[in-house]
This record gives sequence, structure tokens and C-alpha cells, in this order.
Amino acid sequence: MLLPLIHKWFLLLFIVKITCAVRTYTKDDLIKLREEVREMFYHAYDSYLRYAYPYDELRPISCDGVDTYGSYSLTLIDALDTLAVMGNYSEFQRVVDILSAKTDFDANINVSVFETNIRIIGGLLSAHLLSNKAGMKLEPGWPCNGPLLRLAEDVAKRLIVAFDTKTGMPYGTVNLHSGVPKGETTVTCTAGVGTFIVEFGTLSRLTGDPLYEEVAMNALYALFDHRSQLGLLGNHIDIDSGRWTAQDAGIGSGVDSYFEYLVKGSILLQRPELMEMFYEARKSIDKYLKRDDWYMWVSMTKGQITLPVFQSLDAFWPGVLSLIGETSNAMRTLHNYHQVWQQYGFTPEFYYIPQTKAGTNKESYPLRPELIESIMYLYRATGDPYLLQAGEDILRSIQHSSKTPCGYATIKDVRDHIKEDRMESFFLSETTKYLYLLFDTDNFIHNQGNYGTIIETANGQCVIDAGGYVFNTEAHPIDPAALQCCHGAAKSNLFNFKDLEKNKALFRGDTIHQRRSQTNTSSEKAAENVTVEAEQAVVEVIPIDLNNSIAKAQDTDSANQSASVEEDDSEEDSNTTTLVSVEEITLPDFFGNILSSKGKVFSPQEMLERFRRENKFPRNTTWENNYKLLSCKAQPFLQRISIFGEFFNK
Ligand SMILES: *[C@@H]1O[C@H](CO)[C@@H](O)[C@H](O)[C@H]1NC(C)=O
Ligand SMILES: *[C@@H]1O[C@H](CO)[C@@H](O)[C@H](O)[C@H]1NC(C)=O
Ligand SMILES: *[C@@H]1O[C@H](CO)[C@@H](O)[C@H](O)[C@H]1NC(C)=O
Ligand SMILES: *[C@@H]1O[C@H](CO)[C@@H](O)[C@H](O)[C@H]1NC(C)=O
Ligand SMILES: *[C@@H]1O[C@H](CO)[C@@H](O)[C@H](O)[C@H]1NC(C)=O
Ligand SMILES: *[C@@H]1O[C@H](CO)[C@@H](O)[C@H](O)[C@H]1NC(C)=O
Ligand SMILES: *[C@@H]1O[C@H](CO)[C@@H](O)[C@H](O)[C@H]1NC(C)=O
Ligand SMILES: *[C@@H]1O[C@H](CO)[C@@H](O)[C@H](O)[C@H]1NC(C)=O
Repeated sequence: MLLPLIHKWFLLLFIVKITCAVRTYTKDDLIKLREEVREMFYHAYDSYLRYAYPYDELRPISCDGVDTYGSYSLTLIDALDTLAVMGNYSEFQRVVDILSAKTDFDANINVSVFETNIRIIGGLLSAHLLSNKAGMKLEPGWPCNGPLLRLAEDVAKRLIVAFDTKTGMPYGTVNLHSGVPKGETTVTCTAGVGTFIVEFGTLSRLTGDPLYEEVAMNALYALFDHRSQLGLLGNHIDIDSGRWTAQDAGIGSGVDSYFEYLVKGSILLQRPELMEMFYEARKSIDKYLKRDDWYMWVSMTKGQITLPVFQSLDAFWPGVLSLIGETSNAMRTLHNYHQVWQQYGFTPEFYYIPQTKAGTNKESYPLRPELIESIMYLYRATGDPYLLQAGEDILRSIQHSSKTPCGYATIKDVRDHIKEDRMESFFLSETTKYLYLLFDTDNFIHNQGNYGTIIETANGQCVIDAGGYVFNTEAHPIDPAALQCCHGAAKSNLFNFKDLEKNKALFRGDTIHQRRSQTNTSSEKAAENVTVEAEQAVVEVIPIDLNNSIAKAQDTDSANQSASVEEDDSEEDSNTTTLVSVEEITLPDFFGNILSSKGKVFSPQEMLERFRRENKFPRNTTWENNYKLLSCKAQPFLQRISIFGEFFNK
């Protein structure tokens, strides 16, 4: 009797000791970790350049390259903005110059519409918006102009034909030269329908062409409209009939970034209806999927559990919760996921929760970023050093078991850490970036409106680089303020910058300050050295070099051009539901090549007109009224300050 008791007592002591052993990280510790991540990135990036470029991906064991998604040097494009995040502007410029020499993405290859959007369009848009920061020579009219923006639009135009379906939900595959391949399946996964609004919205706001944003919105409304009576979405849907062909509802594989984009799209584009859709979905998720802070798979019609697994991809969820200000819920779920990481040293693709073991044939870890992504967000929100430790766990595992002489390899089986000859491009785009940002507490990405850059545009002054970056689902950061610089933006000066000193507090954002002082995680006492933010808001306005091309643009031809485009926009402004004057839409040549299945020439404009006319998935107009604050005409760089989620607390 006594022995077991003593035993238990010891066991208890032991556990208590472990859980309390959150170490303190000094500033120096963080810098060391950050530099280790930087080395990790360069080891993989330089190997890609040496052994694999111009192929899509590096094979880190055979030390060569391979095309995987579309023979468009995917890793180069995907890694580009990580260079900027790490401050390597010279290499950033070199790669941008390589890409800018490309005129289009015309190629007879079948590509995934989803992957091409998040990796290529997302990567190009992000690099386009970071060009000023990286010291690139800018084209007149930037950010509403530029070679990378044109390339991104070229790719989007090649993808947009996928949306020409009965419901407006897209096919999963297109041929970059000829459109939707004959006999292409009409079944698409939920994420493949609902993961466009961040990139397409950005494109529309920068180019002034409403096509992309409206088409992406239509697909989101379509999904929402097809939710079950329980408010749940399945995994695969037939885009013509709207019938669900896979009826498991979950937050992971096949669905994940749909939820992510409702939240991020809402923040980036100031669209309250997206947040409303998220809240609706969220109610059902919490009711049917959530068990002890895990999220299961359930039948979308009956609600009973069909698959009690955690998927590696699920780990994005705490990050999204932190975006809407729910750090406590997020932390509890993150603890669960981190435990799985600690059990194997990696998270397997599937993990059976009741049996606490990796799923059969789902034991791999392809260097995924989702867990570190959530850790990064939550660390920004809480400053809890436990999260630094969790991040360091991830760094250690990857260094220990994934590193090869020429890169980092996928783990084929988390139980024995056997390697596989693959390094997905998201390792350089996401995993290394989020790790770096976790440890680099002063990175410009973490700016919360404390400083910005004022630029002169054809539309008047606007502010860029003020922070609040919204990452697409491939971790390509989009500067939300820049979206206010182009077409349809208010003509008047957004802000009287002469009163900047007086308005310092506004820059900071009161709500954020309040929120931070309310946050009381275990970190508060120990974390003196983990000071994430400067105490004082530094309002450092850096006027852009007025001698450069942007200012001069006023005198050039193109300034006249953009001014006349503006004229169109002002009409648009007075009537927010209509867009582009339809007069003379000249379509690029390649649309001639893209034939629809009926053999008719595809016209994106006609497709858009059809969506508007049919109005199959009407919006709920009461939604917008629920978000006065979100949709108020505040400064763009104040509106979004997103990672604490103040604007979304109902
Ligand atoms: C930038 O990246 C290139 C290519 O990896 C490398 O040669 C160069 O040293 C890097 N520069 C800095 C400042 O890190
Ligand atoms: C694209 O897919 C279609 C249909 O599956 C196929 O017929 C065609 O050969 C493919 N094209 C390429 C370049 O792989
Ligand atoms: C924060 O502190 C308040 C009061 O001290 C307490 O009620 C609350 O539970 C704490 N929250 C957390 C997450 O520790
Ligand atoms: C913070 O770090 C410095 C050295 O970097 C150390 O001297 C100091 O004691 C630390 N403070 C706390 C509260 O740990
Ligand atoms: C801008 O041009 C003026 C006159 O041409 C010159 O005096 C000034 O130094 C220039 N400024 C910069 C930052 O190059
Ligand atoms: C630009 O437009 C203004 C008036 O609209 C005109 O006076 C000027 O000549 C134009 N400049 C060029 C370069 O076309
Ligand atoms: C605004 O749009 C509505 C409906 O699309 C149209 O009837 C009306 O004429 C438009 N108003 C203006 C000022 O263009
Ligand atoms: C619109 O949304 C509100 C809740 O936000 C709901 O009460 C109402 O029933 C919805 N209206 C329609 C037509 O769906």
C-alpha cells in the first residue's frame, strides 16, 4: 500500500517539475536561435540553387532537382519573400530580376488551380508589395503597377477559366495554355473552392479589375450555401451539381484553408460577411467537432464522429483562433498538438487520438509549417515563453533528423525518422519563415502600425509598410495598407499627416494596448527578457524618396493613364455594386486559346456577368451592420491590426 503511494508521489513531483520547466530566453538566446534558422534556410536555399534550379523542387538526398507542380521553378518563387523577411535584399533583387524577365506563364502543363494560386500568385503578389522595402527600382505607378503584379495577373487569368461552372465553384485542374482539360473531374475539395479570396482580392484591389475578387467571393458564397442542416461542410463537392461527394466534416486536409481565408480575407479586404460566415461555421465546429480541445472528423449530415484523428494540417487552427482574439482556446488546443510533436519528434500526417498513435500509412512529416505557424501567432499574442520552447523543439527535431548534405528531407515515418527524397517548397516559404519570425522579435513583419512609409500615388498620398501583414496560406505576407493605394481607394488624403504627432495614440491603437495589459499568461513574471514590443510607440514616418519614379510618375504618360483609370473608378465608388465600365474590355490574346468544354470562346467578363445576373447565392445584408468597427473608414493600417483580433470581438 505504501510503496505504490510513494511511487505516485514521486511521479507527481516529476510531472510538476517538467511542466514548470519553462526556460527563460534572453535576447541573446533568441538571436542565437534566429541565426540558426537563418543558416537552416540558406543551407536549403543555396542547395536548391546549386542542385535543383530551374526545377520546381530540390531532392535533398539525391542532390538534384525535379518538377512537381508545374515546372515553373516553384521553390525559387516560393522562397522569394522569405529572403526579404530575412533582410537579404540583394538576393531578393536578383531573383525578382530573373522573374521580371519572364513575360507570362504560358505552358502546356496541367496544374492544380489551388496550389498555383497560393504558391505562384501569392508569392508574386507578396514580392511585388515588398519591392519598395527591398530597395527595388520601382515602375511608375507602383504598387498598382509592376512586372510581378502583371505576372501574377497573367497566372490568374489562366486560372480563372476554372470558375466557369454552373455553381461558380472551380475545377481543380487547368492547363496553363488551353484551360480546363477535357474530361476533367467536376469534383473539387472544399479548400480548392474556398482558398482564393486573399490572392484574388489583392489582385482586384491593385489592378482595379473586380473580376478576381467577385469570382472568389461567389465561390465562397456557394460553399456557404451548400452547408448541411447542421451547418457543416464536407470534404469534396461536385462543382456542377453541388452534391457533396465526401461528407466528412473536419478542419484539416481538404478543408483547412477555407476557414483560414474567411478570417484573413475579412481582415485584409474589410469584408464583414466573411467573418460572419466564419462565425457561423465556427458554431457548428465547436458543437460537433470539438472534444477536449481536439477537433475530430464527423458526418456533415448526422454529426457523429467518423474519424477520431488529429491531422498534421489541423495545427493551423490555433493560429486562426488567435487572429480573432481567442488566445485561451487556441493555447489549449496547441498544447494537445505540441504533445503529439513531443511524442514522435514530429507530427504525423494522421494521429489517432484515442489510441494516441500515428495513423497507418500516414506516418510521414513532409516538413509542414502549420504547428510552427500557430506557435508564431500565439507568441505574438501572449509572449508566453512556453511557445519559444515549443518552437525550439521543432527547430531541434528538423536539425537532428531532416538535415542532409544538400538540404532538408521529408520524414517518411515519424516513428523511426527515416528520410524521404523530397523537400516541398513550403519548407522555404513557410516553415523556415515562421520559425525565423518567432525568434526575430523585431522583424518589420511584426510592426503594428507604429511606423509606416508615405508614398505619393496618382490617387494621392497613401501609407505602406505599416505592418499588420496578412499571410496567405503559403505564408506569403500581403501588406494590407498597400491595397488602399490603388483603384477605388479614397481620393482624398487618408490622413492628415501634419497632425501625426498629435495622433500618435491612434497609430498605436488603444484597444491593442488594453488587450495586451489584460493578457496574463504564465509568461508575465519570467519574461522580462522576452520583451516583444518596444514600450513606446515610435512614430517614424519615412517619406519615400520623392526623386524616385513614383513621384515622377505624375509627369509621365502612365500618370495620365492611371489618372484616367481613376476616372472610371470614381463612378464605381458612387455605385459600389457595379464595376468596370464594360465598354471596351480587350482580352489578352491567350483567352482565344482557352476554349470551354462547349467549344465556345471563354470570356471572363461574360462569366462574371452571368454570376451577377444569376445571383445564386445572395448575401445576407444584415451581416455588414454587425461590424461597424471593422468596416468603418478608419486608417487602413489601423483597421486591420489583426493578430490580436480586437476588431472581431462581438
Ligand atoms: C543572400 O543570399 C545569397 C544567396 O544565398 C548569399 O550568397 C548572400 O550571402 C546572402 N546575403 C546576405 C546579406 O545574407
Ligand atoms: C492534361 O490533362 C488531360 C486530361 O487528363 C490530358 O489529356 C493531357 O494530356 C494533359 N496534358 C499534359 C500536358 O499533361
Ligand atoms: C487573468 O487574471 C485574471 C485575474 O487575475 C483571472 O481571473 C484570469 O483567469 C486570468 N487569465 C488567465 C488566462 O490566466
Ligand atoms: C535578462 O538578461 C540579462 C542578460 O542578458 C540578465 O542580466 C538579467 O538578469 C535578465 N533578467 C531577467 C529578469 O531574467
Ligand atoms: C532630390 O533631388 C534634389 C534636386 O534634384 C536634390 O537636391 C536632392 O538631394 C535629391 N534627394 C535625394 C534623396 O536624392
Ligand atoms: C497629361 O494630361 C494633361 C491634362 O490632362 C495634359 O496637359 C498633358 O499634356 C498630358 N501629358 C502627357 C505626357 O500626355
Ligand atoms: C447603380 O447600380 C444600379 C444597379 O446595378 C443601377 O440601376 C444604377 O443606375 C447605378 N447608379 C449609377 C449612378 O450608376
Ligand atoms: C442573416 O444573418 C442573421 C444573423 O447574422 C440571421 O439572423 C438571419 O436569419 C440571416 N438572414 C438570412 C436571410 O439568412
